[in-house]
Amino acid sequence: MSGPNSDYDPVEVTPLRADEVEAMRDAALDAIAGAQDLAALKQVRLEHAGDRSPLALANREIGALPPQARKEAGARVGKARGEVNKALGQRTAVLEAEHAERILVEETVDVTLPTDRVIAGARHPITTMSERIADVFVSMGWEIAEGPQVEAEWLNFDALNLGPDHPARTMQDTFWLEPAEAALVLRTHTSPVQARTMLTRKPPIYIACPGRVYRTDEIDATHSPVFHQVEGLVIDEGITMAHLKGSLDHFATSMFGDGITTRFRPSYFPFTEPSAEVDLVCFVCRGAAVNEEGDTCRTCRGEGWIEWGGCGVVNPRVLVACGVDPDTYTGFAFGMGIDRTLMFRHNVEDLRDVFEGDVRFTQPFGMEI
Ligand code: DAH
Repeated sequence: MSGPNSDYDPVEVTPLRADEVEAMRDAALDAIAGAQDLAALKQVRLEHAGDRSPLALANREIGALPPQARKEAGARVGKARGEVNKALGQRTAVLEAEHAERILVEETVDVTLPTDRVIAGARHPITTMSERIADVFVSMGWEIAEGPQVEAEWLNFDALNLGPDHPARTMQDTFWLEPAEAALVLRTHTSPVQARTMLTRKPPIYIACPGRVYRTDEIDATHSPVFHQVEGLVIDEGITMAHLKGSLDHFATSMFGDGITTRFRPSYFPFTEPSAEVDLVCFVCRGAAVNEEGDTCRTCRGEGWIEWGGCGVVNPRVLVACGVDPDTYTGFAFGMGIDRTLMFRHNVEDLRDVFEGDVRFTQPFGMEI
């Protein structure tokens, strides 16, 4: 049937009947009360207060009523929708408060709980010591040079005045690489970097070269088949032994503090002439040779001095072999143990501790990067 009906009773239009509106409202209120979290309430809001909810649809019907019926139906639907919206607002507030509360509980961090700490790695003390040494020379205007650890026999020995029959070759127990014809060694010292530098650069040369070296030594408290040296080389006009002494004294005090200077003892190295061993003032007894209790100092064994490395004035034969004119230039060179320097500076008694990789050794050095 279509068209208005003269005895049309709006109260009888099904969706607008009081009991129907109440039923819609009650269904909405029940659903709101039953929503257990904000997501469920969102769904309820859509179903019971959204554009397609029964009450919204009923509201739309009002317009179709005859004017005299609209007021009552409008008031009834409006009241129901108001109640539903109010209930929605209250339930939202309750659920939001519960949610906040739950987050506070669930995400509480107990700062007193012990954690599984993942220890962050740090660089090895030898690495940081090498860089500290490099800094001393860079601050004097020197450059840092590098060379390969697999080195040509000629650069490791011959260029440094250590010919095949030189007796001093046997002083350095060498790892030879196969095949023998390749004439390659694991460098036994950082001195080949001197030769490499002179062969590739023109004087003046001021370089320091920290690096890893190898010898067939048995491991003990003071020996390791892998260890570290820092080489120094200066080639310029008018360079004398005095420049060498001044540079090494500066290096020593930079590493060990004021008053720790060096002494030279005559020695022999094929690549330097004259040559010297370098001793440091004992950093424990500071040269007194006895300790505070009046006993012989254990560190220097009563010497007052500790051996640190070797040095000398660059042998002219080395200059010639490396293409430097010995009539114009002179130079000095030195080679110090980095591991020894670390051990002296930090009272490490056993070299094996430096290389074994136990974090209990490295940790006291901190997170130096
Ligand atoms: N290369 C020597 C060694 O390993 C150390 C050394 C001595 C280096 C005297 C030098 C030097 O440059 O002049 O035993």
